[in-house]
Amino acid sequence: MGNMMLAAMFMLYLGPRIASPKAWSASSETTLRQAAEAHHIIIGTAAASRLLEEPEYSAILASEFSQLQAENEMKFGAIHPRPDTDPEPYDFKGGDALVAFAQTHNMVVRGHTLVWHNNLPGWLKNGGFTRRQQARILRRHIHRVMMHYASQVYAWDVVNEAFNDNGSMRSTIWYDKPGIGAGQGTKYIEQVFRWAHDADPNAKLFYNDYDAEEINQKSDAIYEMAKDFKKRGVPLDGIGFQTHISLNFDDPRKLASYAKNLERFSKLGLELHMTELDIRLSDSRDESLAAQAKLYGKITTICVEQPPCKVLQTWGFTDRHSWIPQFYKGMGWALLWDSDYRKKPAYEAMRSALEK
Ligand code: XIL
Repeated sequence: MGNMMLAAMFMLYLGPRIASPKAWSASSETTLRQAAEAHHIIIGTAAASRLLEEPEYSAILASEFSQLQAENEMKFGAIHPRPDTDPEPYDFKGGDALVAFAQTHNMVVRGHTLVWHNNLPGWLKNGGFTRRQQARILRRHIHRVMMHYASQVYAWDVVNEAFNDNGSMRSTIWYDKPGIGAGQGTKYIEQVFRWAHDADPNAKLFYNDYDAEEINQKSDAIYEMAKDFKKRGVPLDGIGFQTHISLNFDDPRKLASYAKNLERFSKLGLELHMTELDIRLSDSRDESLAAQAKLYGKITTICVEQPPCKVLQTWGFTDRHSWIPQFYKGMGWALLWDSDYRKKPAYEAMRSALEK
């Protein structure tokens, strides 16, 4: 009897909170970064310096996230827009602004990315360089950028998207067009990881890719490379799983495969980061948002259940500034806040998965 009374009083006490969550949300709710602390998971997001001027943008970034990563501003074309013959080939402005923001708000910074086939400046793409020259350009680039951010950027996506879906090497200027003269297969990747380690021995070095979440030909190829690198002491610290997905990922087989895949990489002693999570939709009906929320929760749980999964990062946080509509025709609504900076069901789902 007494217990029931107590329960009734408790319900009365909770009643108004349940009825109007908004009234108490702003000040007393746990943020994502707080919720993740118990699991020692870093909650990151991609960001852009020009958006820091939007008050809602910077307020959410500073309070909800414990890590940021430049969405574009540390890519080759952005940070090294002019040839090395120019008096100042580099432009660190955007990256520096992001680093300063992160430091002010007690966030760590992840670097993205040193070796990629996209976002290359015209002077490099059209320069007609030989392998030897390209090797020198890339080595110097890696050294300059990593030394500039030494002790500020704790981890780098050294190489991004070097494999095709079938596990073969992607044909790029760094591999074979004309390449850097390091040799066949994953030799050039090994070479750049060694350069990166020389440039900043304290940075954690990652290989990052998309559609390698499940066990498939691409993730098999990455796994074989990682195993080989670990065996031979090539300085590889972890793998980034981009995790750009859609609702069709909400399939028990796919989810189980993602978990198993992470597990096999973790057994190699590697750190695992989910680096670019977003879940694109083809409309923003309530059902879609609810399905999206569920999937955000499940992906979060996969990270929570795998201790080497140390970073859970979304590719932006507001639908106002997501890359999806531009790159996937007819799709969007992929992130945790809507385009008016209102929290979506996906936000709540991610947080409650972190609170478990
Ligand atoms: C995307 C950015 O979000 C866009 O703003 C830019 O125009 C193109 O690149 N995989 C990656 C990211 O590793 O760097 C890409 O970012 C998205 C896919």
